[in-house]
Amino acid sequence: MLRTHTCGELRIEHVNESVTLCGWVQRVRDKGGMLWVDLRDRYGITQLLFEEGSTAPELLSQARALGREFVIKATGNVVERFSKNDKIPTGDIEIRVGTLEVLNASEVPPFIIENDTDGGEDLRMKYRYLDLRRTEVREKLQLRSKLAIATRNYLANQDFIEVETPVLIKSTPEGARDFVVPSRMNQGEFYALPQSPQTFKQLLMVSGFDRYFQIVKCFRDEDLRADRQPEFTQIDCEMAFVTREDVLNLFEGMVRSLFKDIKEVDLPEFPRMTYQDAMRLYGSDKPDTRFDMKFVEFNEVAQNKGFNVFDQAELVVGICAKGCAEYTRKQLDALTDFVRRPQVGAKGLVYVKCNPDGSFKSSVDKFYTQDDLQSWADLAGAEKGDLLLVLSGKANEARKQLNELRLHLGDELGLRDKNDFSPLWVVDFPLLELDEETGKYHAMHHPFTSAKKEDIELLDQSPGEVRANAYDMVINGVEVGGGSIRIHDKPTQQLMFKHLGFSEEEAKAQFGFLMEAFEYGAPPHGGIAFGFDRLCALFGGSDSIRDYIAFPKNTSGRDVMIDSPSHVSDDQLEELGIKLR
Ligand code: AMO
Repeated sequence: MLRTHTCGELRIEHVNESVTLCGWVQRVRDKGGMLWVDLRDRYGITQLLFEEGSTAPELLSQARALGREFVIKATGNVVERFSKNDKIPTGDIEIRVGTLEVLNASEVPPFIIENDTDGGEDLRMKYRYLDLRRTEVREKLQLRSKLAIATRNYLANQDFIEVETPVLIKSTPEGARDFVVPSRMNQGEFYALPQSPQTFKQLLMVSGFDRYFQIVKCFRDEDLRADRQPEFTQIDCEMAFVTREDVLNLFEGMVRSLFKDIKEVDLPEFPRMTYQDAMRLYGSDKPDTRFDMKFVEFNEVAQNKGFNVFDQAELVVGICAKGCAEYTRKQLDALTDFVRRPQVGAKGLVYVKCNPDGSFKSSVDKFYTQDDLQSWADLAGAEKGDLLLVLSGKANEARKQLNELRLHLGDELGLRDKNDFSPLWVVDFPLLELDEETGKYHAMHHPFTSAKKEDIELLDQSPGEVRANAYDMVINGVEVGGGSIRIHDKPTQQLMFKHLGFSEEEAKAQFGFLMEAFEYGAPPHGGIAFGFDRLCALFGGSDSIRDYIAFPKNTSGRDVMIDSPSHVSDDQLEELGIKLR
């Protein structure tokens, strides 16, 4: 080893020891007679001391020539500091340096490599390897590593076998676009990168592996958001001979154990909520249940009183913001502007203030008496001092808009504390979803999801009403994982493909291998996949998964560090048999 200790290791009890440290120069402070260097490595910072009089003049000038981010090796004695720094663990000591070796010089870095950096996002992404030197950035990846190891241990203890599935495969229909890779040996043909290992893990069940997992890269060519990357990681799992209950219990156990081990948080038992209730009460299939503010439907009390907008609406729906009756005109206008933004899309917002004196003041006083408004308040369980906020329109749209408003208010009122964790299972998702544009149904989860037994007979008449044996784990409004009990026989799978508009030939061409496998003794099976990056971000208290990915893509899907995607040479294209237009 080039060093005897790390830069985070030395304490007062090491005083008088001769040590050798290696690391990066974070700062040089030259006070004339004294010169200090903050030496940094992954483990911490140790102060090096050079002092006129006791340090040899050549060594002192060597130290004076050091620049930020030089990589050095310093040997010297550990001494007690004259003025201690209780902000860092090594703050009691410093190293009186005897010899110094520059292992590598450094250009002046494009931004300051300290927690308080002057580098903007773009610059830090371009020099991600430098950004990763910063403690707060590195710690996020260390958290990720801890989570991965704890996950592996948990699943290994539960008899799961880790299996690597291929990356060059053919399209799996998870609902996003595929990334494709041209095949040189089979010109004109393409591999697809897996959107998930879904079909492979099912085949492993047919193979009798019984319990499979993999921490695996998945690729989806979709528009990026804070919680989406084109390549992301799943904790992908599958089990044979299980019911939904078994899957939910095992993976609830896993997530609780991760929270306990890594965050020392005891999560309560996860409540279950049907998809229908989630949509009705929160307008979202991933409700943030850290705070209440459930939806209240006002149709009965608000319609047929002469207010045209409500009378014509399919749904009049609102929330009660506790203690917000004192909102000013300006605050209410800001909320109205919020729901009117194109991203939310509401036409307007009705408010009812439940005044402390028991009277009501609303934006629709023209149409409603005090008694009318009292009945709204009663319905919503609103008390004196509360504020009702009401939207209307087509049911689905109004719910979606109110969900946005609810989350916005939750933020504004400080109800979404990052150190609070509110998990739940959302269950009984619809099996099929109508695509309004094409008028066709597609699988809400994926085509291998089974329907609830009692709903199968609805498949022909009212396909939209069939519920699936599908479930999502939601924590703090984030869908951290999703899965289902699968179809495991050929006729049912064929029927499903038929309902999804696949011809028999198409189904065979794409998924013949799976249906054939189902004819060789496929056990009943089911599973789940967690968004590992999302889980890391949640553990770290961040909304963005990018910070938890070592080398992420930007919002245009680019890696600005390696400058990818990029053009390839004409020779390469020719070899692949690809002509660009
Ligand atoms: P699903 O498509 O729900 O299910 O994905 C599982 C989980 O992966 C995470 N996730 C993402 N994370 C980051 N960026 C993305 N672009 C992204 N897309 C999804 C989410 C999600 O809950 N094969 C099925 C699983 C199964 O049925 O077992 C599947 O992939 O947290």
